Amino acid sequence: MRKNNFLVGIAVFLFCVLLIYVGVTFYFEWTKKDGTETETDADTESERDSDPTDTQETVVYEYVGAVDEEVLMTGKDEKYLLLANKRHPLRSDYAPSQLSFLPETLVTKDEQLESRTAAALTELMKEMHACGITDTLVTSAYRSYERQCELFNRYIQTEIACVNGFSEEALACLGYSYLREQYTNKGLHTLSYEDARRVVLTYSAEPGTSEHQTGLCVDFITEDMNGHLTTVFEEKEAFDWLSENAYKFGFILRYPKGKEGITGYTYEPWHYRFVGREAATEIHLNGLTLEEYLGLENE
Ligand code: DAL
Ligand code: ZN
Repeated sequence: MRKNNFLVGIAVFLFCVLLIYVGVTFYFEWTKKDGTETETDADTESERDSDPTDTQETVVYEYVGAVDEEVLMTGKDEKYLLLANKRHPLRSDYAPSQLSFLPETLVTKDEQLESRTAAALTELMKEMHACGITDTLVTSAYRSYERQCELFNRYIQTEIACVNGFSEEALACLGYSYLREQYTNKGLHTLSYEDARRVVLTYSAEPGTSEHQTGLCVDFITEDMNGHLTTVFEEKEAFDWLSENAYKFGFILRYPKGKEGITGYTYEPWHYRFVGREAATEIHLNGLTLEEYLGLENE
């Protein structure tokens, strides 16, 4: 008899456990259907929100004028993600497969770009004009290896000459050398070639490493800058406009402030690089450099 009571007790206990289990399961199912988020749901949601690819899918591109969106590279093309920097040099005989002259109304002198980049740049500048900015021109675009040699060597000679005998204003325009003070304090009148080269490398690319050799980038200037490319460009209306709109045309600011350690160059508010609209949008929305976008910032 006592054994029977014991078995009934066990059965009642198990039945109660089962009831509690069913009750709890039912409760959780019910709260979910009712729209109450569990922590896991919320986490998944915020993860999705921070996925740059998803963010980009929701971007609506708005233009004031008529824009030929075909030329802006709405898909990705590796050709336009070509990296040229100090650690990724180009061959000295590298040149874009097809070059086109930019319309003469958009440049300070004859300038060429890789053909699709030229078409996208033309669309960008048409839109800039439609927005009322008409004082901005392209002052430098494709540069051959030989042209970069000329420039780089000229900058070295200028830095050497700059140590003494140039006005502060001229120095500001030509890339001020912090070494100037050091040298004059020591009573020296010229930089050594190596020191001058070291200074120049902070703002000009050694031949074979310039992005200008890819034909995929441009330097903008405004008419009142008298041909001097300086950070004064940052104060111009064109700079604000480019900061907000360049990505819609597939262009990115290539050497941003604060990213010198990654790009290898001082801030250049005037230098814009074509990567295609999809990549430019991702880079713009996430505040990246091309190196970071490609995952090559440490290589
Ligand atoms: N000023 C840029 C870095 C160039 O020389 O290509
Ligand atoms: Zn440039």
